[in-house]
Amino acid sequence: MQFDVAAVRACYPALADGYAYLDGAAGTQVPVAVIEAISRAQADGIGNGGGAFPASRRADEITAECRAAIAALTGGDPDGVILGPNMTTLTYRIAGALAKTWRPGDEVVVSRLEHDANVRPWVQAAEQAGAVVRWAEIEPSTGELPAGQYAELIGDRTRLVAVTAASNILGTRPDVPAITAMARAAGALSYVDGVHATPHTAVDARALGADFYATSAYKWSGPHIGTVVASPALLETLHPDKLLPSPDEVPWRFEYGTPPFASFAGTTAAVQHLAGLAAGPEGSLRERVLASMAAVERYEQDLFAVLLAGLDSMPHVSTYGKAASRTATSYFNVAGRTPEQVAEYLAERRINVWSGDNYAWEPAGALGIRDTGGAVRAGLVHYNNAEDVDRLLAAVAELG
Ligand SMILES: Cc1ncc(COP(=O)(O)O)c(C=O)c1O
Repeated sequence: MQFDVAAVRACYPALADGYAYLDGAAGTQVPVAVIEAISRAQADGIGNGGGAFPASRRADEITAECRAAIAALTGGDPDGVILGPNMTTLTYRIAGALAKTWRPGDEVVVSRLEHDANVRPWVQAAEQAGAVVRWAEIEPSTGELPAGQYAELIGDRTRLVAVTAASNILGTRPDVPAITAMARAAGALSYVDGVHATPHTAVDARALGADFYATSAYKWSGPHIGTVVASPALLETLHPDKLLPSPDEVPWRFEYGTPPFASFAGTTAAVQHLAGLAAGPEGSLRERVLASMAAVERYEQDLFAVLLAGLDSMPHVSTYGKAASRTATSYFNVAGRTPEQVAEYLAERRINVWSGDNYAWEPAGALGIRDTGGAVRAGLVHYNNAEDVDRLLAAVAELG
């Protein structure tokens, strides 16, 4: 089945407002199916979970369906899908639980390619446990995170390796399987930040070797929730702080308070939407989502080649990142303008982009632009089209 961007765009009411939504890396719009699933869940009546009456049963069913959908998207086990408000909150929670098992002198490896949500929770947890933080460096000229350096960084004392599956500013997709294999060989766990990667590619958390795989539904056409996927057996070994009366079973043990059930219904609809982007109705949800996301990746990469070639052809524009494998995410500066000024100029032309470090604090530091306002980020997702790219390029060209 062909990837039909016009048909895809028609699913997204927000895209009708005439703006070019090149801000997807900070959060995507949602299709009608997600909006309807959320309002249907509310209209049908949802109680709190775990009760004997139908509205409560519906809440439990919605939650179970959401875990199954996220497992289908990531290749995980539904019983190991932890649901929460966003990736940052869940990462702090997992870091807190893991750090209880760390001893002074243990080591944690983080990288300079990360969004800060996959850095600070580990650094702060390590500080509290007396563990040592070791840093994997990027090559600023390419934005690559060479996997080879991990052979030196990982050792007997390594307890955790935190690495991103894709940089949220440079798009770099490091060799995660190689890195997690080294972690596993040393008896360490790996925590893979899939927030930026998941919307752009088919995901197989097992093939990535991720002990934990984190992603946020609002980056892939869903509502504002986050999730961490792990094996239930691993989760059984961890004991996060929790209330006494709340369930101690996995994965509930990791989930705090009353969850957003309607958003869970929307999340299931988002995975189903992704699965239908370029796959027919046959096959399991997992098979369809894999086929669709492979088509999404091809589509985005073709469009991205045009975007990058256009930016690189402009003498007044400097782009960051040249990784061999990367998502369709551009990060650039325009001579004589601050990134903020460029973002404001583009907003006046109805083009949505972000400026700054985008919480990629360490990468922006490694690039030497953290203190100068970072750069402009214009990223593509599956609903962007050639017109969005043309509009961006024409507007940036005018700044020359
Ligand atoms: C790569 C990456 N990791 C983590 C996060 C944090 O995700 P959340 O907003 O769900 O906490 C983001 C958000 O932009 C991100 O892009």
